[in-house]
Amino acid sequence: MIKNFIQLSDFTGPQLSGLIDRTIAEKPAYLAGTGATTLPRKTLALLFEKPSLRTRVSFEVAMTQLGGRSTYLDQMTVGLGQRESVKDVARVLGRMCDGIMARTFSHDVIKELAEYASVPVINGLTDYCHPCQAMADMVTVKEHFGDLAGRTLVFVGDGNNVARSLAVACIKLGMKFVLACPQGYQLEESFFEILLLEHPEADCQMIHDADKAVANADVIYADTWVSMGQEEEKAQRVDAFKGFQINAELLAKAPDNAIVLHCLPAYRDYEITDEIFEANATHILNEAENRLHFQRTLLNALLADGGIE
Ligand code: CP
Ligand code: NVA
Repeated sequence: MIKNFIQLSDFTGPQLSGLIDRTIAEKPAYLAGTGATTLPRKTLALLFEKPSLRTRVSFEVAMTQLGGRSTYLDQMTVGLGQRESVKDVARVLGRMCDGIMARTFSHDVIKELAEYASVPVINGLTDYCHPCQAMADMVTVKEHFGDLAGRTLVFVGDGNNVARSLAVACIKLGMKFVLACPQGYQLEESFFEILLLEHPEADCQMIHDADKAVANADVIYADTWVSMGQEEEKAQRVDAFKGFQINAELLAKAPDNAIVLHCLPAYRDYEITDEIFEANATHILNEAENRLHFQRTLLNALLADGGIE
């Protein structure tokens, strides 16, 4: 039984597909307002070192739908690791709350929270990975195509936290993962080596030519070129990523039925043009909404059921 949701590599493919299928199955009842309220009197702490729209709101609304509540704590208030040690924050929140969702810079901080909290800890993004996002993306892909195995997801952009979680999700769910990025912005070789040891059948690739990368894509995925915390590198990154914009010329090289997803927030005319964003807005907004539906499943699994089997 796994009690925390820290990184997708902690889970098996069947565990991940179980969460995806449960999300799709339970979504209609919660949309109709008739879903089970499994967390009455429970409180989720939301600890943020970085800004957020989707992650904060999806967890808050999910807790409301489940009959519980949440408490938002920003870094100005808590001073995680500054005003107070991570270990003490974890132990205190564990005494008062029923779960902790945290968005931190360092991945080690979320692991430390999980080590010392007596309640489930959920990763709401670190510099290393963004597992909740990748799971909502997989829900969106499955709803659109009806299946996952055999599909190809092409991430065009930076080998960042979102790309890393998508790579793990794809490999565990039988999809092909392609990262198209400039030289110097790929995911670390050691990350793929470990994944391939566990999944020798995995189909994954990193290439530096976006046109070639999208040729067989089912999903073309965008994220910012400048992640939170990298603001000082903006000029250098905008220059490096010039050939990796998702625009009409690139989509002309992709199959007609390929969809474009974006985890948001989007920076138009950097990683994606307004034209392509708006042409795919339904998919991108379904994806954003699925953050709520997946988060609710995750809270049900960790806080109501006691963990992921
Ligand atoms: N995609 C995502 O995590 O959005 P927020 O940063 O707004 O939470
Ligand atoms: N890679 C982005 C994702 C935002 C949801 C970041 O870390 O800022």
